[in-house]
Amino acid sequence: MSRYWSTVVRGLNPYVPGEQPKLANLVKLNTNENPYGPSPKVLEAVRVEAGDTLRLYPDPNSDKLREAIAANHGVGPSQVFVGNGSDEVLAHAFLALLKHEQPILFPDVTYSFYPVYCGLYDIEYREIPLTDSFEIRVDDYCLPNGGIIFPNPNAPTARLLALSEIERLLERNTESVVVVDEAYVDFGGESAVGLVAKYPQLLVVHTLSKSRSLAGLRVGYAIGQPELIEALIRVKDSFNSYPLDRFAQAGAVAALQDRAYFDETCRKVIATRDRLTAELTALGFEVLPSAANFVFARHVQRDGAELAASLRERSIIVRHFRKPARIAPFLRITVGTEEQCDALIAALKELLP
Ligand SMILES: Cc1ncc(COP(=O)(O)O)c(C=O)c1O
Repeated sequence: MSRYWSTVVRGLNPYVPGEQPKLANLVKLNTNENPYGPSPKVLEAVRVEAGDTLRLYPDPNSDKLREAIAANHGVGPSQVFVGNGSDEVLAHAFLALLKHEQPILFPDVTYSFYPVYCGLYDIEYREIPLTDSFEIRVDDYCLPNGGIIFPNPNAPTARLLALSEIERLLERNTESVVVVDEAYVDFGGESAVGLVAKYPQLLVVHTLSKSRSLAGLRVGYAIGQPELIEALIRVKDSFNSYPLDRFAQAGAVAALQDRAYFDETCRKVIATRDRLTAELTALGFEVLPSAANFVFARHVQRDGAELAASLRERSIIVRHFRKPARIAPFLRITVGTEEQCDALIAALKELLP
């Protein structure tokens, strides 16, 4: 605390990202990155961009990228907003679309950045408990609200809400915006983008950090009707006109155009996830059904924090959340390569004789 801090900063409770340790030979399964590198076409596009044009500002509207995203999803470019990672897109959505008189609603177990944005922008929120089996129950969200946001699949539970349930929510909740954060949808979910044409209150948020292996490039986007997109643009242009640099724009376009590489990477991650789930189950873990590139699992007898610490001693890093209390027994484990998952299972076999 410093006397120079503003009142706003004094009251902040910032998000704590998963560690990025600088150690070699680490089996890093803690931040849901893709274990496979980006498409070679992305690397080439980024290389091409490293030239004289870097002295010029990038396209403030990211037109080529928005066109590539629009083509990918079968929507128009005016329905696409891009940002510096989906975290930035989400931040703008909180200020532009979720700050109203009524509290916004999100699950009690969810992406822990949501309450942080509420703190930053002074937005009231109400946490809606997941069911005992960690599912979102749409009926629980049918109350007056200033907006609704949840990830699908949810994080850190990895559980998927059926598209028919999302549509049921949209039918009942027409007076405020519903943000569906689809950071992990490419690993087994069905996207709600197809509902955007019918529901003007729907905003769907995606990232290139997970299924496109580009967490380091920082590109995310939102799809919604032009009215919602315009609200996001108004915030962006009141904050930073050039959120995506030339590398990010060029690399993201190349990633979206390499469909074959994307399909293959997702297929490999899903296959490894299913094998990992089976092996963890055989070791006495309860693993929630996952539609993401991570699993959420608790051992029937062993404490989550203790297991995470023991794995760490063996250079394997997974994520453990102390709060809320009902998820403390769980570990969130990113799906790595086959070899990384083998290393995890071998270590667990030593720890769980
Ligand atoms: C549910 C969810 N949404 C959004 C993000 C942010 O992703 P990025 O800012 O890398 O696009 C994450 C990152 O882990 C996430 O888990």
